[in-house]
Amino acid sequence: MQLMITGSSGQVGTELKQQLAGQAELLTPSRSELDLANATAVQGYLALHRPQAIVNAAAYTAVDQAETEQELALAVNAQLPELLARYCAQTGAYLLHYSTDYVYPGTGTEPWQEDSPTGPLNYYGYSKLKGDLAVLAQCPQAVIFRTSWVYSGQGKNFRSTILRLAKEKTGLSIVADQIGAPTPASLIAAISVQTLQRYLQGQPIAGGVYHLAPRGYGSWYDFAKAIVHQAIKQGETLALQPEAIQPIPSSDYPTPAKRPLNSRLCVDKLEHALGIRLPEWQQLLASMTQ
Ligand SMILES: NC(=O)c1ccc[n+]([C@@H]2O[C@H](COP(=O)([O-])OP(=O)(O)OC[C@H]3O[C@@H](n4cnc5c(N)ncnc54)[C@H](OP(=O)(O)O)[C@@H]3O)[C@@H](O)[C@H]2O)c1
Repeated sequence: MQLMITGSSGQVGTELKQQLAGQAELLTPSRSELDLANATAVQGYLALHRPQAIVNAAAYTAVDQAETEQELALAVNAQLPELLARYCAQTGAYLLHYSTDYVYPGTGTEPWQEDSPTGPLNYYGYSKLKGDLAVLAQCPQAVIFRTSWVYSGQGKNFRSTILRLAKEKTGLSIVADQIGAPTPASLIAAISVQTLQRYLQGQPIAGGVYHLAPRGYGSWYDFAKAIVHQAIKQGETLALQPEAIQPIPSSDYPTPAKRPLNSRLCVDKLEHALGIRLPEWQQLLASMTQ
């Protein structure tokens, strides 16, 4: 099977490429080979290569920058998924797409369900929601995984930033009133591979939205402390001790894009569909070795 992975240099894309190596014929165009914001170029690529499945791991993920680069955010997060979904509906190709907790309004403390009302607080969330709606409208059998707080062993993410700062600083203030679940890109890739295998075995999970995150919830402050704890446990020499991390409210850390306070995602639907039990976020963080 010819499987196209968009965004294969990103956190999730890199893990997908590794976990799918040898299992399918992979098409992994880089940005210099294919600008995904260019619809004509994408259409040309699809017409030439005719992939039988697409995993759309590409996205415009610079949340604050999206407030000012709205056109580009919309092209990558909404127009690209719409185009891919149309191709998949027309050709019968399988589509796996990713979305975000930022499509929800962040109110309350209850975990969001897949059919909870949406209401993004920032342009990134708005553009991703437009992408989700377009995919659902064009290709109802497509699967959309909404995930949260993605990190991996490589690239720039919250974990790598905290590890860098922990080597330089003796104190740190981290937001403690935004609650969600830190999700390793490796988990997203592993669940995606399982979902593709189900499709290839003729037993696809139903099309639609699923939440994909570990079990349990914490704040960015909890996540930062756990990262530093784990690094010390693994023998890293740091300037920062976990006790020197201070909890602060979001109001003390203003950003161009507003963030939701409640990013809790209920993962029951995915667990039932795949017959699995997702691990706790702390357990997954502790198993990271790099
Ligand atoms: N990161 C998070 O915290 C988070 C949270 C919730 C949901 N998600 C969702 O999870 C999915 C994967 O996110 P991620 O963290 O793996 O993203 P990422 O690391 O930022 O990677 C994004 C990928 O998209 C590519 N890309 C963006 N614009 C492009 C363009 N115009 N042409 C070609 N390639 C382009 C990037 O290429 P370059 O390497 O060349 O830039 C990169 O490979 C996305 O749908 C995202 O919205 C992420």
